[in-house]
Amino acid sequence: MGKRIVVVGSSNTDMIIKVPHVPVPGETIIGGTFSTAAGGKGANQAVAAARAGGDVTFIGRVGEDMFGRKAKDGFVKDGINVDYVLSDKDAPSGVALIFVGEDGENSIAVASGANASLSPSDVESAADAIFSADILIMQLETPLETIQKAAAIASDKGVKVILNPAPACQLSDDILSHVAILTPNESEAELLTGIKVKSEKDAGAAADALIAKGIETVIVTMGAKGAFIVTADSKELVAGFTVKAVDATAAGDVFNGTLAVAMAEGKSLKEAVKFANAAAALSVTKLGAQPSAPTRQEIEKFLGS
Ligand code: RIB
Repeated sequence: MGKRIVVVGSSNTDMIIKVPHVPVPGETIIGGTFSTAAGGKGANQAVAAARAGGDVTFIGRVGEDMFGRKAKDGFVKDGINVDYVLSDKDAPSGVALIFVGEDGENSIAVASGANASLSPSDVESAADAIFSADILIMQLETPLETIQKAAAIASDKGVKVILNPAPACQLSDDILSHVAILTPNESEAELLTGIKVKSEKDAGAAADALIAKGIETVIVTMGAKGAFIVTADSKELVAGFTVKAVDATAAGDVFNGTLAVAMAEGKSLKEAVKFANAAAALSVTKLGAQPSAPTRQEIEKFLGS
């Protein structure tokens, strides 16, 4: 059995159009190719953690529709515990519309549907699973009061909380007080601190401001450059891997899900981030969110271990 990871978060069906470039407002592009894939930041992190070897429980909501049923089937195939994946009678499953350009960059719009109904009482009902976890991991595609409740349930019992603050929004000091590891990208770090993040120096300054609020470790993900780890007494860039980018969708999710497994296994911060960087790089070489999450074997082969 792998280490126990609980993920609270969103599940979406991604409708993807691969286009020469991401359209600008008012532009119509003909000649794209369409596909669908399982997505949603929470579900992507859960799948990435399961494929990396974690024993994963996912807490979320889907609609009582074809998309919700397919999402749940996918979790089961990946060995994820779905006891706390609720089917919502009143709201459809979450859907994301995604354009992916030839350079692998994307633009995403999400209709949250049932994800928006994940409530504090839903996570209270799953408290036993959270108590027995090694790590709780969350993102920001479900209501903030739910994130806050889950974070408090976990940290009160000494369960480490990783928060991936994506998509970016302001966070209260109360939520942050429950977080052990915060993993913003450059723009999220900027939104959280007001410090423009363009360089390692800026990332360090933004992370310092977050550490001053009581977070133990801030890991600023910096795309292909890698990830900048900051604690109260250290700062270090762990270099990323250069790959041919097909689709950057979910690279951050794969990083976070894999990081949670590596941390729970007791790898050092630097080793865990290197492992997560490798998984994220592999994910960028394939189209789609969950289809691109690598297995542990693939990550280890890529790292030559
Ligand atoms: O992080 C990528 C994810 O963001 C996609 O899978 C999409 O569903 C949106 O939630």
